[in-house]
Amino acid sequence: MMDWTDRHCRYLHRLLCREALLYTEMVTAPALVRGGALHLLDYNPEEHPVALQLGGSDPAELAAAARLGADAGYDEINLNCGCPSDRVQSGHFGAVLMETPGLVADCVAALRAAVDVEVTVKCRIGVDEQDPEAVLPEFLARISAAGCSRVIIHARKAWLQGLSPRENRDIPPLDYDLVMRMKGLFPGMHISVNGGIDTLEQARGFLDAGLDGVMIGRAAYHNPADILCTADCDIYGHDHTTTPEDAVRAMLPYIEAHLSAGGRLHQITRHMLGLFAGRPGARSWRRSLSEAGAQTGAGPELVAAALGAIPPLEPGLRAG
Ligand SMILES: Cc1cc2nc3c(=O)[nH]c(=O)nc-3n(C[C@H](O)[C@H](O)[C@H](O)COP(=O)(O)O)c2cc1C
Repeated sequence: MMDWTDRHCRYLHRLLCREALLYTEMVTAPALVRGGALHLLDYNPEEHPVALQLGGSDPAELAAAARLGADAGYDEINLNCGCPSDRVQSGHFGAVLMETPGLVADCVAALRAAVDVEVTVKCRIGVDEQDPEAVLPEFLARISAAGCSRVIIHARKAWLQGLSPRENRDIPPLDYDLVMRMKGLFPGMHISVNGGIDTLEQARGFLDAGLDGVMIGRAAYHNPADILCTADCDIYGHDHTTTPEDAVRAMLPYIEAHLSAGGRLHQITRHMLGLFAGRPGARSWRRSLSEAGAQTGAGPELVAAALGAIPPLEPGLRAG
């Protein structure tokens, strides 16, 4: 998610959950290939498994960007066919690509030929006046034939005119049934659903109903403890849970290293604000972190002090 799932956010989320696949913000192929902005590929090895999401629509340029991503060690290359922003549309990538499944298939084939890691697509169910019942199966058939065996479907349309990107994440109605039907039509394809899922119970329900995966965006960001701390156990079946307290403690050396390298505290702590959401002390935690982030010279000791002010969970209650 642009501006949200940067490497600091992903490092934190990995501390909270070992198994979940993490995605980068969308990185545009032109920025990497023509702009040489290779710093956009920076990540910490602890983040694995981590997927690089690319934006673009020129098969050769996407292939070159994917090669850079694979060389950098990303575990998956994901093509964005879901972003509705004007800037992205004018570059003819993102959700507007739902209108040109043949071009998307060419992009997938080029990506497939360029890298050995998995090539996946994130899409909408359609855009504007398209009939999702007709276009989504066609879209999936084309990308599948081109070598994409895993897709993440944001279960709502994008309206390319008239709605802001934010409105496009809430206003077009969700159609989970359509995504379920796609699993019936394409049983060999790994299909994940995305959009409006904000509890692990809901995610479990989709998996139990036959879907292969669930992508959670905003809820995981705003309320990481609820979504991530018990996912290893409740979704992946491992004997492992973690707590936000553990994650904060593990972030302290990471923060120290970032500050020593010339980084700013706020760049990390802004992703930690929601760690205690819903718990006593959440508000003072957010306030302390926001104040510390704005202060020059503030470091991990302020984060540790803010953690010390969080009342412990009652015994028997699981974080998250
Ligand atoms: C701030 C923000 C930035 C986003 N950036 C991206 C992006 O770069 N690539 C992408 O595929 N989706 C992006 N999205 C959309 C989310 O991935 C997701 O599809 C959408 O929020 C619906 O899922 P959710 O209800 O679980 O959040 C973004 C969403 C938000 C809130």
